[in-house]
Amino acid sequence: MVGQPIPTEYLTFGSRPFRWRMGLRPLDLATWLEIDDDWAADRAEKRRLLESRPDDVFAARPGSEQAGAEIEAAVLAFVRGHGLEPETDEDEHPLLRAGLAVQEDLLLMEHRDGAWYLTAGSLSFPTNWHLGEKMGQELDAIHAPVPRYDQDLGAGTVPAFFDRLRVDRPMWRANWTVTDEPGLRLEPELKIRPHRSMSPDEAAQALHLRVERQTLRRFPRTDAVLFTVRIHRQSVAALADQPEVAARLADGIAGLPPDVATYKDSTSRWAEPLLAWLRSVS
Ligand code: HEM
Repeated sequence: MVGQPIPTEYLTFGSRPFRWRMGLRPLDLATWLEIDDDWAADRAEKRRLLESRPDDVFAARPGSEQAGAEIEAAVLAFVRGHGLEPETDEDEHPLLRAGLAVQEDLLLMEHRDGAWYLTAGSLSFPTNWHLGEKMGQELDAIHAPVPRYDQDLGAGTVPAFFDRLRVDRPMWRANWTVTDEPGLRLEPELKIRPHRSMSPDEAAQALHLRVERQTLRRFPRTDAVLFTVRIHRQSVAALADQPEVAARLADGIAGLPPDVATYKDSTSRWAEPLLAWLRSVS
């Protein structure tokens, strides 16, 4: 929800020196998915996107239906456990039905020929990536544009984690971005639009902290792994009331090495006024 402070345990920035981290923590399945007051509105937005640009928000490889059905059953049971009843369309792929029932995006990973592949995705609210470009790819290829990924995490570490992930030990992690785009859906094309200069106060008003809470859960029957992504957003200006978070965010931005700063383009684009403002409130 915009306007609500993002839970501080989701805020992973600020440890120096910078390096990408797995940052995985055990997940309590009672909090697997997050349902808040925007449940109906976010699902309506997903449905609207599906009607206007279906190929951008859902894709599936043949053979992914079984794992999709196992996931759909778990997702619907979770939602119904919260006293809610999402309407579903029997003609749709089960992973799409699951995706339309919750606020999270759902990415289905399946193990084939010794590697983990993205075999289906319900992706309405990406942070600067296209589903079509990643569909059918394995984990390392999906992460190819990320500078220092192998260097920091270790080559093969993420696939090895998937191999070892246990059905009874789901995990979660988080990442973060600063953006001037308040919407839920961030297209990669937003990276290349012209941008204006801002004063520190303008930057605080215009920019948003965007955090992805990501969960990883393995399913027993089909042995698939579901990666969920839930977007949290908060205006930077609201950090005036959270000086410790403002200080950590400033450290996180100031500590980005040049190649990562270029990759996290919207985060570093207004670094100068943003850092000045964050330091002034922390
Ligand atoms: C333990 C599991 C995983 C780890 C540690 C991990 C780590 C990362 C990291 C460090 C980044 C850089 C962006 C940032 O954090 O700001 C990233 C980006 C990304 N990750 Fe993952 N990831 C994991 C699983 C997945 C899975 C299962 C998918 C499935 C689709 C995925 C899709 C992506 C995409 C699309 C990007 C953006 C890549 C781009 O810029 O083209 N990740 N990931």
